[in-house]
Amino acid sequence: MATQSTLPPRTNGSLPRVDGPLKVTGTAKYSSDYNLPGMLYAVPVCATIASGKITKLDAAKAQAMPGVKAIYHSENIGKLFRAGPANGFSGILDEKRPPFEDNVVRYYGQYVAAVVALTFEQAVSAANAVGVTYEAAPFNVSTHFTEAEATEKPNVDSHRGDPDTAFAKAPVTIDHTYATPTETHNPIELHASVADFDGQNFTLYETTQAVCNSQDVLAQMLGVPIENVRVISRFLGSGFGGKLWPWPHALIAAQASRNLGRPVKLVVSRDMMFQNVGHRPRTQQRVRLGATPDGKLVALIHESLNHTSILDDYSEGCSEATPYSYSVANLRATSGLVRRNVGTPTSMRGPGAVPGLFATESAMDELAIALKMDPIQLRLLNEPAKDEGLNLPFSSRHFVECLHVGAEKFGWARYTPAVGSMKGAGEQAGLTLGWGVAGCSWIAERCDTSATVELLSNGNARVSCATQDIGTGTYTVLSNIVAERTGLANDRIEVVLGDTKLPAGPISGGSWATASVIPAVLDAIDKAEKTLFAIAVSSPASAFTDKEPGDLAFSEGRVHLKSSDAKSGVAFGDILTKANIRSATGQGKSAGTFGAPNRKFSQHSFGAQFAEVTWQPETARLRVSRVVTVIDGGRILNPKPARNQIEGAVVMGVGMALFEATRYDSRFGAPINNNLADYIVTTNADAPDIDVTFLDYPDLVLNPLGARGVGEIGLAGIAAAITNAVHHATGVRVRELPVRIEDLLA
Ligand code: MOS
Repeated sequence: MATQSTLPPRTNGSLPRVDGPLKVTGTAKYSSDYNLPGMLYAVPVCATIASGKITKLDAAKAQAMPGVKAIYHSENIGKLFRAGPANGFSGILDEKRPPFEDNVVRYYGQYVAAVVALTFEQAVSAANAVGVTYEAAPFNVSTHFTEAEATEKPNVDSHRGDPDTAFAKAPVTIDHTYATPTETHNPIELHASVADFDGQNFTLYETTQAVCNSQDVLAQMLGVPIENVRVISRFLGSGFGGKLWPWPHALIAAQASRNLGRPVKLVVSRDMMFQNVGHRPRTQQRVRLGATPDGKLVALIHESLNHTSILDDYSEGCSEATPYSYSVANLRATSGLVRRNVGTPTSMRGPGAVPGLFATESAMDELAIALKMDPIQLRLLNEPAKDEGLNLPFSSRHFVECLHVGAEKFGWARYTPAVGSMKGAGEQAGLTLGWGVAGCSWIAERCDTSATVELLSNGNARVSCATQDIGTGTYTVLSNIVAERTGLANDRIEVVLGDTKLPAGPISGGSWATASVIPAVLDAIDKAEKTLFAIAVSSPASAFTDKEPGDLAFSEGRVHLKSSDAKSGVAFGDILTKANIRSATGQGKSAGTFGAPNRKFSQHSFGAQFAEVTWQPETARLRVSRVVTVIDGGRILNPKPARNQIEGAVVMGVGMALFEATRYDSRFGAPINNNLADYIVTTNADAPDIDVTFLDYPDLVLNPLGARGVGEIGLAGIAAAITNAVHHATGVRVRELPVRIEDLLA
């Protein structure tokens, strides 16, 4: 069963978060916590139509109100550029139009002006007093998509064999359309920008999952050299992808600061979060499966559509996991876009794979039922020997073991397939149980990364990198890596992140940050060690003056002869102190793998999700009672934050299955449930018992520690596992999320 890593045992066990004390004492500073001398407050004015033109903007009354310093709109915001095409993971933004670029309104809530005032309250008050006259035009926020309205011919994401013929001839077939609704990221921390222009340079405190990308985009759009922009994001109250790329409010704050010569704070309100900073778009996915009577897949056709905005092309990428999940000779996966009058969509936790797997893993369950076959058995039968989409071996795939371990932990041996056949006992007495299973997977890659490690004369180490901790534990993981390699205690390691002044680091996205920083930090330590050895053999006061650097080793924080143990050596801080050198410093680097040419492996994480629901037909009461999740996420560097990521993802998956949906009002096109009372997310009372298991196989193709990263994999597959369980309990197959009580009353 689960085998342990072949590497030496972890030195850190389950290290609690190194930034925990700062957070629980309220001393961790988030972007909107920065209050600079002379700072002004900006508040946007949002369009009240979903399509049309601004014919008149009357700012006179608002301008005369107390504290108002400026009211910006298309006439007076000043020059803002568009960013050029992205270069790898730099220069990316989803809503490409600079704020106020023209007088056209393309979605409800679009910023049409912004008031800057001495206080936030004055700015809010004046923003309400700005008079905007519109010429409204017809708009479309419909949640019904047709292929005919796709912007162009759907893109063929993957193709092999002859799927149409194979499907037509298949003895057993499934052909259904699944849909996932618009979902809005609701991190506790609102998006915010505190911009400070000093006459030449911008210092921008941004809520961002990617300081380096923000710096690049904002410099381009503000029209200044990149070195004139510094972006800082020390702590993030989470992002879930919504804070990966910059949004228009950041430009408004920065431009206002430049125009007024004072710092400007702009905090996006919760209702604006539903319209101005992205969302996961609605997806509509037709899945056709063809199989032999004994359960061998012969055809898989997955056609998806998602909405995008009027100006931008955002593809959710629902085909992400489709080509490599199962062995099937004939496959086609396509994706297309339809335009709607909504804000531009963006990445949301596990973009593509998460809604895609809801569709395909639901279809697999429907196929198992059609075949009268156990759903685990169906998946085992179709386990691929390689990634048949890329025709490459997997770097490390243990999906079969995930299913076996999960089945054992969940108690699948007791499963009886007939609808409503399983009854609860004990606390669950009187309830019907529903059990469901789904597979999951997620991309395992790395981004370009640089990092600096300083071994300091006081015996401490400092590691710095312009990546950021979005609440997932990156401070802790960097400390773990340095501790493991140097033998230093974690309280001797300082981690510095979230500032573009530091060596360029990865985005906190795609679950790639951990995998990305490992090789760069290890390289930095190698180089620091080399410097340390050179000092050790050359410093007159050293115990190693008669040695060569090649004779030396560095472990447990001590320099010693390779031929003897660490205890016989000298603490590295003493070597530096005697030499009167402050630090032995190494600058490490590692290249990204994403989209790299000539790749030899398909790199993904895998998992199996098991869900139990309880169903009380008399009252139509449905609850998720239990989830068992088994994750093949490479070697787990620190089980504590890793487990926390998976638990959080499962909770989010319950929300995806049962609660979350942004609804657009058909009269005005507004996201109507734009608050945390009406947009339902999972709370503690809704959260099931969650059992997390990591298989812990190192993926040494990805990096020398074999760690992949586990932010998004935990969400993938959960919604399908739950709706499969809902079907098992109730006999109702819900193909359009979320599951509503009305679906179950039918
Ligand atoms: Mo994640 S959607 O890549 O922040």
